[in-house]
Amino acid sequence: MAKATIKDLELKGKRVFIRVDFNVPVKNGVVTDDNRIVSALPTINFALEHGARVVLASHRGRPEGRGFEEEYSMRPVYLRLKKDFGDNIFYSEKVIGEEVVTKSRELKEGQLLLIENLRFDRGEKKGDVEFARKLRELSDLYVNDAFGTCHRKDTSVYVLPTLFEKPVAGFLIEKEVHYFENVLSNPERPYIAILGGAKVSDKIPVIENLLNKVDAILIGGAMAYTFLKAKGVDIGKSILELDMIELAESLMKKAEKKGVDFILPVDHVVTDKVENGTVEISLGESIKDGFLGVDIGPETIVKFKEKIKQSKTVVWNGPMGIFEIEEFSAGTFAIAGAIAECQCTSVVGGGDSASAVRKAGVLDKISHVSTGGGASLEYLAGKKLPGIEVLAEKES
Ligand code: 3PG
Repeated sequence: MAKATIKDLELKGKRVFIRVDFNVPVKNGVVTDDNRIVSALPTINFALEHGARVVLASHRGRPEGRGFEEEYSMRPVYLRLKKDFGDNIFYSEKVIGEEVVTKSRELKEGQLLLIENLRFDRGEKKGDVEFARKLRELSDLYVNDAFGTCHRKDTSVYVLPTLFEKPVAGFLIEKEVHYFENVLSNPERPYIAILGGAKVSDKIPVIENLLNKVDAILIGGAMAYTFLKAKGVDIGKSILELDMIELAESLMKKAEKKGVDFILPVDHVVTDKVENGTVEISLGESIKDGFLGVDIGPETIVKFKEKIKQSKTVVWNGPMGIFEIEEFSAGTFAIAGAIAECQCTSVVGGGDSASAVRKAGVLDKISHVSTGGGASLEYLAGKKLPGIEVLAEKES
């Protein structure tokens, strides 16, 4: 990576601010998916092993800067981190101010302090220099390992680093950049992208960028129905983005011009209502009146699996159906399984597909499962991430 990393810092005895993305789900005060926490551990452990005194900071959810709110508290994260760091981790209910600065100064080498949700302060979402200056008082050095937040210009990822001589990346950002750069600039072929999820509108920049790079795009999820509609196929009462039909048509034309295979589902799991409805498999690509598509059908699964098997690089973003409901999850899990089996470099991005990979039990068979949702989409769309751009360049 062209950016300096934590390895380029003299950490011994220093207070190191590590911006992490611990925006994790919590139920009844317990973290229910700790992937983002586990993914940041290599950087945190490296800092501790090299004698740093670590200040950890993240946002969680979208509180509106009204101060402490239990619902968005980092306390459950602190309790989760205690499993790894025991009595060496401390917690601060304050984000800035004298009390938390004192706590940071009291840290001994190898100890950590987790501060409360950065977004409890109005300054975090505003790119506020005053707030950044207050955060600056908490440390001597700055490391960003919050890949999932790097598409934001939040103060702690975009302004705070500019107040340090050498703001650097952590290992998670280094790893994410490595895999995304690999699939965007140096993919082995055949190279396919599998895109799903509810909305075409969310994926337009990604499709536009990938059309210049991939050999085939496979479309599933509710967004497939807008493309089918654009082709004149009946889609019953499936989710449709009316205002996207023209664009869907032009994307398919572009694909044809560029020689990119644009593959839509050839059959579907359909139902008359999502909860307790009659569930059927459609006859072919059209969906009868009164029914809506909720997953790709068995023939589509076979077709998609065949394509995946032949590929050397696979990028996947977005589920193939409403996979949270077991009856409509076969398509998404079949794709997860096929990618896991394929002899290819595979990159999975987006919260839902990442969670499908985990639920399918194939996490360790995927080359890289991104911790970024929006960030991974922006990367795939070919955009620069502000939180990475602002970091120091590696010295040659
Ligand atoms: C995410 O979960 O995608 C990141 O933590 C960013 O969160 P945000 O969309 O609330 O900025």
